[in-house]
Amino acid sequence: MCGIVGYVGYDQATPLILSGLKKLEYRGYDSAGVAIYDGNKLNLVKAKGRLQILSDKLDAGAQLKGHLGIGHTRWATHGEPSERNAHPHVSYSGKFAVVHNGIIENYIKLKEKLLNNGINFYSETDTEVIAQLFDYYYNGDLLDTGLKVMAELEGSYALGIICDDKPGELLAMKKDSPLIIGLGKNENFIASDITAVINRTRDIIRLDDNEVALLTSSNVGVYDKDKRLLSKQVSCIDWDIASVEKSGYEHFMLKEIMEQPKVIRDTIKSKIENGEVFFENISLEKEYIKRLSKICIVACGSAYHVGCIAKYIFEKILRIPVEVEVASEFRYKEPIIDDSVLTIAISQSGETADTLAAIREAKKLGSKVLSIVNVIGSSIAAASDEVLYTLAGPEVAVATTKAYSTQLAMVYLLALYMANKMDKIDRSEYNNYVNELLYLPSKVEDILKCRDEIKSLARKFYSCKNVFFIGRNIDYAVSLEGSLKLKEISYIHSEAYPAGELKHGTISLIEEGTLVVALANNNSLFEKMISNIKEVKSRGATVLSITNEKHQEIDEVSDYKILIPDTIDIMSASLEVIPLQIFAYYIALFKGCDIDKPRNLAKSVTVE
Ligand code: AGP
Repeated sequence: MCGIVGYVGYDQATPLILSGLKKLEYRGYDSAGVAIYDGNKLNLVKAKGRLQILSDKLDAGAQLKGHLGIGHTRWATHGEPSERNAHPHVSYSGKFAVVHNGIIENYIKLKEKLLNNGINFYSETDTEVIAQLFDYYYNGDLLDTGLKVMAELEGSYALGIICDDKPGELLAMKKDSPLIIGLGKNENFIASDITAVINRTRDIIRLDDNEVALLTSSNVGVYDKDKRLLSKQVSCIDWDIASVEKSGYEHFMLKEIMEQPKVIRDTIKSKIENGEVFFENISLEKEYIKRLSKICIVACGSAYHVGCIAKYIFEKILRIPVEVEVASEFRYKEPIIDDSVLTIAISQSGETADTLAAIREAKKLGSKVLSIVNVIGSSIAAASDEVLYTLAGPEVAVATTKAYSTQLAMVYLLALYMANKMDKIDRSEYNNYVNELLYLPSKVEDILKCRDEIKSLARKFYSCKNVFFIGRNIDYAVSLEGSLKLKEISYIHSEAYPAGELKHGTISLIEEGTLVVALANNNSLFEKMISNIKEVKSRGATVLSITNEKHQEIDEVSDYKILIPDTIDIMSASLEVIPLQIFAYYIALFKGCDIDKPRNLAKSVTVE
């Protein structure tokens, strides 16, 4: 996520903003910038890359004098990482500077309106629209103008705004993205989180959605959208900095598990408008898709597991053969690839060496490459013909959770987009899928509310030596991820198996008390799964079943169960993976493992 710091007060703004941004570096970013009012005009200094580059430009803050300013570290969502796209963004008159964390969902419509009014744009960002709107509506009153702008915005935002007409005022507003106000002595701050200001003050006000704050060095007023002055609670934060970076969660992994409803919603809503899946700047025409002999998916680890789910989905909806390949195997197997094959690469980091090498091989053989990537401007994105960006934000924990879930969401969107292009899907079915997609985030939220129930199950099983995950169809593909999550953070040996395959050998490993996690969410295969569960039960297994609320009868054959909301079969993966993530997390916690940095693992494997 982006980082925001703003200052108005007696002291020099630049060094305070720079040190605040440094505290926010953990959030991940690709560029940074400041806007400082020097008593005469707004000075804008930005830099691509590390914060140190910006700091060097500013001579560590000594260079730019002034008592009012805003600063930003950018995690690119719209527009590649560059100085031009870095924040702060300024309005056409140069009067306003804006920093933003979030996604303005209606920025295209707002941009068109401003372009039609003769306002030109210089960046590819959604944020610039906000700066231009301030100029467009400015009536001499910063707060009034801010309320007018806020009324036009749809999406998520935490904003800091300064205006060269108002040298003593700092405006802030918030919806869905976090923003706090730090209360000092003859100085006040805004920041994405308390870590940025904790060295100056621990007294904070948390802005709530649709609130606007007007700060001066001696006063803070918080208003609702109707300009009613609100009385806000001041909290004194006694957290240490480490826990603040995790928003109070014990580990980044748990924080990122809990962020999933938001980032799944962001990813889905970024690609759906008026009930239609739409991809800007993607060229996948009907003739090309109809001519495809197959789709080949290349990826590693959890991204490969997303590919295994995608195979079931694409083959069911598009009726196009799909091969899923572990990237490190793909490039050495003389793959049968040509221009009638669409190669899809899936990668959170966009830097996985094996995946990058695989897509280069595929391109050499004439295949078009489409990548699903979380990091804008990454090597895999740059090497691909088409890119679909997930909006998971920076993922810090080595074990992926929210990136995996946003990759899944993007797979559903891509399948619907291609099916629509091919006229492979009737309108009512298409609408049903799109509506269910929009419901997914709230269903994930419902599962997260059962976290404690899953935690108590983990407490029963954290001393297990071997765990088996079984499922059929998409449930099997999800069981691969459940097994990997458990292995990589708790170091417990685990295997995932197609439930129908267990009896062909591996079932000999099942003995008294062996834990078997059975995923039974495919409604058409439920009875088959009941038989497979009975098979392992009869050999002494302890069975933990994960199924949807329609199948209460699973009680009869399971020792424990986790119920999840029902959904369309192809989307069950997004729901049943959540309990598996939580289960693995708490087992590793009870085992005292280093959850965010498991032994032997790296967040991005940039070597073969
Ligand atoms: C998943 O929890 C692991 N961290 C690992 O398997 C990861 O998914 C794999 O290395 C691929 O990384 P990528 O998505 O960045 O390409």
